[in-house]
Amino acid sequence: MSLSQIIFYSHNLVNLTGGSMRDMVRDILAACNRYDRGSGLTGALVFNEHFFLQAMEGEASRISEQLWKLAADNRHNSMILLSARPVHERDFRGWMVGYAGHSEALDALYLRYGPTAKLDPSEMQIPGIVGLLRAFADLDGSHFVQHSGMPSPAGVQPQPRKATA
Ligand SMILES: Cc1cc2nc3c(=O)[nH]c(=O)nc-3n(C[C@H](O)[C@H](O)[C@H](O)COP(=O)(O)O)c2cc1C
Repeated sequence: MSLSQIIFYSHNLVNLTGGSMRDMVRDILAACNRYDRGSGLTGALVFNEHFFLQAMEGEASRISEQLWKLAADNRHNSMILLSARPVHERDFRGWMVGYAGHSEALDALYLRYGPTAKLDPSEMQIPGIVGLLRAFADLDGSHFVQHSGMPSPAGVQPQPRKATA
């Protein structure tokens, strides 16, 4: 299987009040797990009040299939494709969905991988975006981050794992 990776961002249309943030993390991760069990797609998605930023990797035809589906999702609009390229190996072993809020640790991450202390994909370069998404994937659940998928070699279907709260 030849492996590709895409990176895109879009504008968040969801009003993130009350429990909606945790619900959105849970819903999107559940959708990723449902669809990706058979598709071999892996990736990472972070969002804040303004943006969604996502990397998705797997077979190009599977990525396209999923892109059409999520482009129609009314929780976001104005998708901007930043990168689509063949890769030798995956950057992400399963799925991670996380809220890009603010804390001392998170603000330090934004400044490490981009020009400002917030998530603003329109101002970021591709290596910084991949670095930030990977750094989020290493965070634990105390940061509104949820993971799924066991470590697996490139091309092997990721196994679902119980999400952390
Ligand atoms: C910004 C954004 C990114 C999403 N990314 C994915 C994704 O990578 N994989 C996925 O299965 N669903 C993703 N979703 C959810 C899909 O848009 C859609 O709700 C889901 O595929 C529907 O799944 P269902 O047909 O099983 O109900 C995303 C939603 C948003 C708003």
